[in-house]
Amino acid sequence: MKKRFHIETFGCQMNKGDSDLMAHSLETAGFERAQGIDDADVLVFNTCSVRSHAEERALARIRSARRNARALVAVAGCMAQRLGDALVADGTADLVVGPYQSPRIGPVVAARIEGRGERAYLSQAPEDFAGRLDPAAAARRDEIPFHKWVTITHGCCNFCSYCIVPYVRGKLISFPSDAIVRYVEQCVEGGATEISLLGQNVNQYGMDSGDIPFHRLLERVAGVEGILRVNFLTSHPMDFHDDIVRVAADHGTISRSVHLPLQSGSDRMLALMNRKYTMARYAEILEHLDRALPDHAVSTDLIVGFPGETDDDYRLTLDAVRRFRFDEAFMYAYSPREGTPSFTMKEDLDRAHKLERLRRLIDIQRAISREKLLARIDRSEELIVEGRSRRSPGEYRGRTYLNHPAVLPGGPGDVGRKVRIVIKEVRGSTLYGERSV
Ligand code: SAM
Ligand code: SF4
Ligand code: F3S
Repeated sequence: MKKRFHIETFGCQMNKGDSDLMAHSLETAGFERAQGIDDADVLVFNTCSVRSHAEERALARIRSARRNARALVAVAGCMAQRLGDALVADGTADLVVGPYQSPRIGPVVAARIEGRGERAYLSQAPEDFAGRLDPAAAARRDEIPFHKWVTITHGCCNFCSYCIVPYVRGKLISFPSDAIVRYVEQCVEGGATEISLLGQNVNQYGMDSGDIPFHRLLERVAGVEGILRVNFLTSHPMDFHDDIVRVAADHGTISRSVHLPLQSGSDRMLALMNRKYTMARYAEILEHLDRALPDHAVSTDLIVGFPGETDDDYRLTLDAVRRFRFDEAFMYAYSPREGTPSFTMKEDLDRAHKLERLRRLIDIQRAISREKLLARIDRSEELIVEGRSRRSPGEYRGRTYLNHPAVLPGGPGDVGRKVRIVIKEVRGSTLYGERSV
């Protein structure tokens, strides 16, 4: 009988993409998916290190999963890279596998089960990327059967002063554009209609390798025959140029949702964070988007309580949120990460104070998100149908081109297809629509 694996994923979309590659690698090595923790022979936790809370959550989950005492526990992803052997030494993991090694996890786990091989795979050598754009992985049906995550760059060289990512995921490495386009074509041949191009700063694609710039890659992928939607994330304001907007405006297959993390509304904080843009530049980008890309959405990330953030700096972030009226924002209290430049900066705020700033920001943004959703009522929008609605039996759900979740009447034949709806209602953060032609 085949041994079974179960994967749990924490963190960002890059980890979701890596988890799909790990599932592929494990299946190729002769494993099959388990129903859950209790019937698995191998438990894989693909972890995140971005905030200390992310690590604490993963560690608590791994310890509780140890109730299945016979399973081999593999800790993968960014926390595996950061803590390495220590996770084996303290009994948390039987095996640690860093993010570079995700596509190789199958043979590594198989060897470990037989008592062979190492207990830690943490090398960050470029040759460890073999298997990332494997045609057999392109043909796989993942969690959403018609959608594929496609990592175009690994790592990051921006060194924002608060961020652990450059240390755990290594330097920026762009995969070759011809291989990416071929992989996307293979995904589409395998039944995918939606692709998400992934990188910590996709706009820096090709800068390390001298390959084509990001907007050219986006254009090539958007033109692949049979593709219905191309999403791309994350964009960095420092490298977000008008060419990208022009390509998006020229291609109906490119998502109308731009994720453009601002982090703070204070230029003083942006400089301390080493973000390399100002509020004026950020505003200029949004003005250009308004002029050149009709009907789009902008989402962002914001951090409050960065070391040295005064009441005035914080107020500038609140002002920015009111001024820019983001469709959505992911908001965080600053979490000091050992090894990053800001770790040694003096913190003036305790955790409770940071959380108070966060709560107020969330309240303001939430009201704006809701107003923006209500403004969609009576508008006609296209979406791609993902599957049956979990909350509304008999209905289907999907995401619009502005990346809003939506529910509509439908049938199984709609899954993976583009459908036009007119928005009739907003419930929570979901749009409800009727089909139109
Ligand atoms: N590469 C993207 C960028 O440049 O914006 C995002 C990377 S990070 C994985 C996702 C978000 O986590 C960041 O945009 C930032 O808002 C937040 N973040 C990163 N480090 C953090 C820290 N030490 N404390 C709080 N939030 C943090
Ligand atoms: Fe972290 Fe900055 Fe790189 Fe984003 S761009 S991953 S925030 S260092
Ligand atoms: Fe977390 Fe690693 Fe992503 S630290 S946010 S999983 S790149």
